[in-house]
Amino acid sequence: MLKAIRIHEFGGPDVLKYEEIPESQPGPGEVRIRVVAAGVNPIDWKIRRGYMELPLPMTVGSDVAGIVDMVGQGVDSFRPEDEVFGKASAGQGGYAEYTVVSSTQIALKPSSIGFIESAAIPTAGLAAWQSLFDIAGLERGQTVLIHGAAGGVGTFAVQFAKWKGAYVIGTASSKNAEFLKSIGCDEVIDYRNQRFEEIVSSLDVVLDTIGGDTLERSWGVLKPGGFLVTTVASIPEGVPEKYGVRADRLMTQADGRELAQIAAIIDEQKIKPIVTTVLPLTDARKAHEMSETGHARGKIVLRVAEDPK
Ligand SMILES: NC(=O)c1ccc[n+]([C@@H]2O[C@H](COP(=O)([O-])OP(=O)(O)OC[C@H]3O[C@@H](n4cnc5c(N)ncnc54)[C@H](OP(=O)(O)O)[C@@H]3O)[C@@H](O)[C@H]2O)c1
Repeated sequence: MLKAIRIHEFGGPDVLKYEEIPESQPGPGEVRIRVVAAGVNPIDWKIRRGYMELPLPMTVGSDVAGIVDMVGQGVDSFRPEDEVFGKASAGQGGYAEYTVVSSTQIALKPSSIGFIESAAIPTAGLAAWQSLFDIAGLERGQTVLIHGAAGGVGTFAVQFAKWKGAYVIGTASSKNAEFLKSIGCDEVIDYRNQRFEEIVSSLDVVLDTIGGDTLERSWGVLKPGGFLVTTVASIPEGVPEKYGVRADRLMTQADGRELAQIAAIIDEQKIKPIVTTVLPLTDARKAHEMSETGHARGKIVLRVAEDPK
């Protein structure tokens, strides 16, 4: 048996239950991970609230870092005792002492950081990487506006964009301005007191992690042919054409090869995960309450087991 945070019904933080469940075995192509740390993402509380119709009961959690415990048939890329990080599988979530995942959605953990910081990477890091590079094609010398720059996705996006050689503008509240400059923002716009569309124009890329009115006001700040990528909203029909820009909605892919690329950049000390809160697994409710405010800085991570080192 293993301990896990489970839900049997959709609802508020109170539906999160700390329970014992039977261990699963890895199937062909899968590995079982002894979880040391589990990252917390908005998708976790959105699933808990029932925004997606997923089968219940389920173990919550999208991201893990830990140690490979068993490998399934046909897995030759990982061995027991490998230190790894990656996306958890839908329904077999990461808020658990053990989790089973496809070997294609994990990578060896960066050697220069611990399990807690590694667990902060998968969903937010991949979302930032895929939005900026795979979708929008951000290049050196271009200018990018990142909405929600102080959040989980935003703190990775700011650093990736800076690493790429872009000029980086972020939106955040004023309390995050100095912090964002310290991780690579060239300019920070205080979204509570300034209207970004009156300050910036002719941008190459906008990364929107907020949606609503922020997305609506973003179309006009792009240059013709510029790219808007959003992590949160559908692209309204006809609007990109009206502004002469391109646009797409991100659906993050659980790509272990991209996680390995991110790990390499971290080990070159070019970027680092920003973890601001670490809580024990038993405090998953508190972690969800914090995430659900929409104003957490960087990442929240659950400590599932003591770091073996
Ligand atoms: N489609 C996908 O595959 C995918 C993947 C990853 C994430 N997402 C989604 O993307 C969104 C962002 O994820 P996340 O992990 O970055 O969330 P997060 O960490 O909870 O974001 C919190 C941040 O948002 C900032 N913020 C709130 N309102 C803002 C506004 N109006 N303008 C600018 N910044 C604002 C806050 O800064 P202040 O405290 O300064 O206000 C805070 O730092 C979530 O909805 C998530 O579900 C989607």
